[in-house]
Amino acid sequence: MLCLGIETSCDETALALVDKGKLIGESIASQIDIHSIFGGIVPEIASREHLRTLVPLFDDLLQKCGVETKDIDLIAVARGPGLLGSLLVGLGFAKGLALALDKPLVGVNHLYAHLLAAGLEQEIEFPSLGLLVSGGHTHIYFIRSPFDFELLGKTLDDAAGEAFDKVAKFLNLPYPGGVYIDRFAQEADPDPGLFPRPYVDNDNLDFSFSGLKTAVANFLKKNDHLVLKSMDEVAPGFTPGLELAAVCASFNWTIAETLKIKLSRALKRVKPRSIILAGGVAANTLIRQTIEDLCQKENLPLVLPSKKLCTDNGAMIAYYGEILGVAGLKHGLDLEAIPRGKKIPWDYIKD
Ligand code: KG4
Ligand code: ZN
Repeated sequence: MLCLGIETSCDETALALVDKGKLIGESIASQIDIHSIFGGIVPEIASREHLRTLVPLFDDLLQKCGVETKDIDLIAVARGPGLLGSLLVGLGFAKGLALALDKPLVGVNHLYAHLLAAGLEQEIEFPSLGLLVSGGHTHIYFIRSPFDFELLGKTLDDAAGEAFDKVAKFLNLPYPGGVYIDRFAQEADPDPGLFPRPYVDNDNLDFSFSGLKTAVANFLKKNDHLVLKSMDEVAPGFTPGLELAAVCASFNWTIAETLKIKLSRALKRVKPRSIILAGGVAANTLIRQTIEDLCQKENLPLVLPSKKLCTDNGAMIAYYGEILGVAGLKHGLDLEAIPRGKKIPWDYIKD
């Protein structure tokens, strides 16, 4: 089933075609350069950029793949969670196509799509324990099948990616800062005693990263020589001083260990056959290594998407859309966008 995936939930406009679980092609336009000027995503600009780039990207995708609109069997669109204005652009485009081509439409939960994205590259054994770490979410799920996700734990405040980005902002690093902290962290050893591992002295599976963020902010107030004078210093070839690298390494280590502690705890409660690590923060070198070590210790296969599939992309939407479509699950043209913070309903219409 040739499925078109449309992703516009945040700051990437991304389209992809998937057929029988394999990626046929994709087109993506990132807005990072535009938003980085403001140090974070500006929702109104994000919506306008989606509106501006979506149609040319669609034409580009069809041409690249040698596909005509009539060949598309199903239109899948990220329906949330995300920025409402951005989601509405994708949904409007998807509904227009579905109507014009007389093809079925299916709304995709962006978080579930992240978790299953690695299915494009490898077989996922279910049930699986899924850790989704992104800019907006830090969630642990017990995934019995692509149709059965049980939320076991979530962040009570900042997501892991948000903590990375805010700490990067304190250091005057460009947005989004996770990737810079990851890079700088590799230049020094972490000091495990520098920052407390947040919200681990309890018996639950939830996260709270705001205390860690404050601990780093307080540390930097006392050590303000570590804050870069200008963002422009981070040009290609820039190497951080040892002290700055050690702060990044310690912060990165604290996040990685916290994620490991909660995942290990989850493994005492459920018995999965694999562990999935997904979302933008899953691109982090130390976090990948830490969870890989945990999986080896627990003798469980790790399902780890390639870095390109970790951050927002259209392939994951097309992939999960096709799974839903093959199972006969669709939506009508009244499909609603669900903004961040609201629960996504399982409101599919069965064929
Ligand atoms: O999944 P994603 O692309 O978008 C959301 O749905 O949120 O995740 C973006 C987040 C940003 O916070 C970014 O800083 C973080 O992923 N990120 C990283 C790395 N690459 C991206 N965080 C830590 N290390 C990285 N290498
Ligand atoms: Zn995402």
